[in-house]
Amino acid sequence: MSIVFYEKERLFKLDTPNTSYIMGIVDEEKFLAHVYYGEKLSDHRAGYLLRTQEGPFVPSVNNRDRIAFLDSFPMEYAAHGIGDCRESCISIRTLGGNTALSLNYVSHEIKRGKAPFGEMPASFGRENECSVLEILCEDSVTGLQMILQYGVFEDADVITRSIRVVNQGTEDIYLTKVYSACLDMDNREFESITLHGSWARERHIQSLPVSRMKHTVESLRGETSHQDHPFMALKTPGTTQETGEVYAMHFVYSGNFRVQVQTDPYEQIRMVMGINPEDFCWKLAPGAQFQAPEVVMTYSGEGLGKMTRSFHDFYRKHLIRGEYRDKKRPILINNWEATYFNFDADKLIAIAREASGLGIEMLVMDDGWFGNRFDDNRALGDWVVNEQKLNGGLKYLVDEVNKLGMKFGIWFEPEMISPDSDLYRAHPDWAIAISGREPGLARNQYVLDLTRKEVRDHVYESVAKVLRGANIEYVKWDMNRPLSDIGSATLPADQMGEFYHRYVLGVYEMQERLTKEFPHLLLENCSGGGARFDPGMLFYSPQIWCSDDTDAVERLKIQEGTALIYPLSTMGAHVSDCPNHVLHRTVPFETRGYVALAGTFGYELDVTRIPEEDRRQIPEQTAMYHKYNDLVREGDYYRIASYAENHYFDCWGVVSKDKAEALYTFIQVLNRPNYHSRRIRLKGLDPEKTYRIEGEESTYLGELLMKAGINIPNPEGDFRGRLIHLTEC
Ligand code: DGJ
Repeated sequence: MSIVFYEKERLFKLDTPNTSYIMGIVDEEKFLAHVYYGEKLSDHRAGYLLRTQEGPFVPSVNNRDRIAFLDSFPMEYAAHGIGDCRESCISIRTLGGNTALSLNYVSHEIKRGKAPFGEMPASFGRENECSVLEILCEDSVTGLQMILQYGVFEDADVITRSIRVVNQGTEDIYLTKVYSACLDMDNREFESITLHGSWARERHIQSLPVSRMKHTVESLRGETSHQDHPFMALKTPGTTQETGEVYAMHFVYSGNFRVQVQTDPYEQIRMVMGINPEDFCWKLAPGAQFQAPEVVMTYSGEGLGKMTRSFHDFYRKHLIRGEYRDKKRPILINNWEATYFNFDADKLIAIAREASGLGIEMLVMDDGWFGNRFDDNRALGDWVVNEQKLNGGLKYLVDEVNKLGMKFGIWFEPEMISPDSDLYRAHPDWAIAISGREPGLARNQYVLDLTRKEVRDHVYESVAKVLRGANIEYVKWDMNRPLSDIGSATLPADQMGEFYHRYVLGVYEMQERLTKEFPHLLLENCSGGGARFDPGMLFYSPQIWCSDDTDAVERLKIQEGTALIYPLSTMGAHVSDCPNHVLHRTVPFETRGYVALAGTFGYELDVTRIPEEDRRQIPEQTAMYHKYNDLVREGDYYRIASYAENHYFDCWGVVSKDKAEALYTFIQVLNRPNYHSRRIRLKGLDPEKTYRIEGEESTYLGELLMKAGINIPNPEGDFRGRLIHLTEC
């Protein structure tokens, strides 16, 4: 059993294959205390670490001098306003204007198996894979009940955290802050790892020492954002891919978030993660409840690599759904960088005809096929085919593409409305706006008020109608601007603080409907590139467009940061034309292929116009995709070298679970003079297995390849790559 309550010591012990998590009830006040998280323990009796009897800052009788006690006590989930002055996890406003509350243990329940949350994405597992612990706490003054939720997995070193809040009182209560997880740790020195960027350079890895300052990463854009990511890892100084301790949290959510770490005067660390409390206020009428989104938490005693593989395995098995989760995805060609808005049916058929002969399996028609959409100034919301461009209609086009043996996919941006659209002219109040204030435009568009059911129903129906009318097997769901000017024509004033979260729930509801009505559809989420690349979206779509930056060199950094926590099977990656449209850099076609092979793999170019020498390489690339994709999708990922760190070369590998096959990708970004070869030590192999490197006669023991390594000859020129494929012999 992975969750045990030890009645005598009043301790809970949660075990995953390699980790233990212990918390306890302080009987006098019934506070819930955090005791331990880390390497697996065989003995649960860690209650002596609780500091309930310690001086000078902890008095021996807790409830007589509660303020000093709470100022330093390691809380399992910290309430606001009763003495703990570190970052709190939950706060409220009562009708009397008070903000404090206390969390006191009442009872608990342990169950086998874990279901998702219903209206929100969350992990799941069968009864033989995981257990759930729910600890009921209450604040006796307000009648607020707080149910702390833990999911403990037996096939992954992951514990999930969340909280459900129920108003059992007699008056309305306003929830002004509700984080999903808190982790208090004693006297530790840590560095944080977080992911940051902007449009076209998402999720670059950043590492900083954790100091006395509060260190916060957050989004207030109504989406996850290009700029920041709902992830933080704390690592002990000197941590490498293989050694050192790492504590990480990742948020299964697609809206405003906050993750924060803080050191207190006693060098204790508090790490919290949840919905961003700024602009958040949720009204709880008597009897009403609020379910917070889920945090995925992992500990690794074996460096960053183990953390990465724990997240990968967990998401592949316990978060991503649908028939494409474990399936090779069709190799697609997307017309965005090929044509932008300038296309018609003939052009798309010409691209499909050429592509189908090269091993490409699906044509995706991107932005510009509907309404009056000749540029990005208009028509969002008018999801009716533009017959001027698609003469013959959509079904004709799809049928023509199908006749070529290719699947057909289509782009939508369902959450948006252009001021110049029939939809806006009919329903100007459907756009998010504050009464009396002109809302700001971004990419010439407004955002639809998806907190309103009639808006969601209308948009869903117009999207679904298009999908019902032709054999469409893929949808790219785009979202090209952040939210601003938050106001809804229908939400009452005392519920306007619910807007951001209700918006996210609206998106989830629409995507759930879509995946239910079209269970065979391959859905790819996207947000101006990778602004909504998050675990929440993965619950609906097994892949997400990583970035609008398709330059293979910039992609090394983006994909390294993304793959730090996300499986390669989720990373939308395409070979595009050069000079690259964002960076104007020219990288060999072969290298562009190697980098895209580390993701979902596809093309984003006008295959009828690229140089013949590039086109000639496509059949070989598509064959490579088929040869390696099972391994890339399902294997264990190892980071060997980081171009972001060394500025010269990049190297990663994927090894099959049975360690019988491995594929390593080496990219020499910048060549160096008088440098003949580079020694690379491979990772993840079985030291006792013998391997053959494809293209060579000799065989090598895994131990030799990992301890001593292989020499990779210096390629001629910059931006050159090489694949090293190993099979057991
Ligand atoms: C942003 C996406 O990331 C691009 O791939 C493309 O679909 C454009 N939007 C279309 O407007």
